[in-house]
Amino acid sequence: MKRTKIKELLQVEPTGQPATVHGWIRSFRNNQFIEINDGSTIKNLQAVVDRDALGEATIKRLTVGACIEVKGELHKSLGKGQSLDLMVKELNVLGDCDPEKYPLQLKNRPSLEYLREIAHLRSRTNTFGAVMRLRHAMAYAVHRFFNERGFFYIHTPVITGSDAEGAGAMFRVTTLDAGKPPRTTEGGIDYKEDFFGRETNLTVSGQLEGETYALALGDIYTFGPTFRAENSNTARHLAEFWMIEPEMAFYDLQDNMQLAQELLQYLVRYALDNCQEDLEFLNKRSQDEESSKPQDKRAEMGLIDRLKFVTENDFQRTSYTEAIDILRNSNPNKKKKFQYIIESWGTDLQSEHERYLVEKHFKKPVILYDYPAAIKSFYMRQNDDGKTVGAMDVLFPGIGEIIGGSVREERYDRLMRRVEELKLPEKDLWWYLELRKFGSAPHAGFGLGFERLMLFVSGMTNIRDVIPYPRYPGNAEF
Ligand code: 4AD
Ligand code: MG
Repeated sequence: MKRTKIKELLQVEPTGQPATVHGWIRSFRNNQFIEINDGSTIKNLQAVVDRDALGEATIKRLTVGACIEVKGELHKSLGKGQSLDLMVKELNVLGDCDPEKYPLQLKNRPSLEYLREIAHLRSRTNTFGAVMRLRHAMAYAVHRFFNERGFFYIHTPVITGSDAEGAGAMFRVTTLDAGKPPRTTEGGIDYKEDFFGRETNLTVSGQLEGETYALALGDIYTFGPTFRAENSNTARHLAEFWMIEPEMAFYDLQDNMQLAQELLQYLVRYALDNCQEDLEFLNKRSQDEESSKPQDKRAEMGLIDRLKFVTENDFQRTSYTEAIDILRNSNPNKKKKFQYIIESWGTDLQSEHERYLVEKHFKKPVILYDYPAAIKSFYMRQNDDGKTVGAMDVLFPGIGEIIGGSVREERYDRLMRRVEELKLPEKDLWWYLELRKFGSAPHAGFGLGFERLMLFVSGMTNIRDVIPYPRYPGNAEF
């Protein structure tokens, strides 16, 4: 008999029909009631066994974590908490689980920190089941959003030859022997001998390659892994993270901001409409977490209310210059409560400033635009004031920057001037510069950090808990 997933079973009207279920035991009570979870939904199926029919030897093997196959009949449940029971006729233990050694016993609820050490097993918990089902739904919704709008998904390379983005330190890709690399006559490492005949790295962003396709196909996006070797040991940074980068020909800054808002609202609405059970669980989970914090540190809204709020309200659009004024005159700045005091125009914003603007001042998502050229990337379009560029960052409550983007400098001379000022390697950027010579076009785009989105939608507070196997300084286990 074919296996049926629990998610499907829980939707049928029980009339004694036969069913086969495969899953992992979450609990076994009174030598009679087995809670089985198969990952298809956060909900468990209750299987009812006849102790005498099964026999003592099998009963002993029904431990938390064990994998079983059960065959039986579906009946209306007599107990509270579930609509139906599977009355078991046949049971096979597919994989035993030693209760003395299994780290996920119900009694001692493990901390998230501990679960990171057993990331190969944390997938069996309700929390990680919910987060990863939600993650899947968000990835699907990203593709759906862009497909509905006629964007093309472009697979930009993971291994790149240019380190032109300047977004952060890169991971070298090489097949040379680290102990005995070939040397040039000057004594440096001879990368001509390396696999690609040159220095290569893992990409920090697919944007530059994405632009070449936007200037041919119109609207495109990338969605893939990106890598940054910064030593950022924070709850919002990963060394390997996934990024969604749309790039659109003929978009200006307003168009870019509008698309960013619509994308975020679409994704959050998709979660609300399609992931109710998991969201309700995560809502409750973050409520419990909040209630252990001091009153003044608690979030004003619960998770689901925060999600609804974002879908129902326009994002605040404010220039960097206005934001600096607000911050300079803010209480935490005057009272020196910020770690970094805002003194003058031109300073980069830290996440404490971004969160102040979002959570305390505007009380809604904020899009800051027109940043000083000096703190932004070389490719951003220069404004006529000679000081700022057409950049935009979307700031979210509890997170800070969730999106970074800009209009791109499409004028060859202007772009070339920036490349020279910043002493960027023209020899690596030749193809990017050529794009401005052959049918250049105004265009814009942005990057949405997928795990930052996941933080917001799941209500989890550490980015290491919204990706199956987090990579961060000092950690690449699994
Ligand atoms: O602001 P960033 O560095 O922008 C770019 O890489 C551009 N090339 C994007 C573009 O215009 N196409 O990164 C974009 C987003 C950030 O807003 C943040 O959400 C996320 O990527 N991000 C990270 N997420 C997790 N860990 C990190 N170390 C991240 N660095 C950036
Ligand atoms: Mg940024």
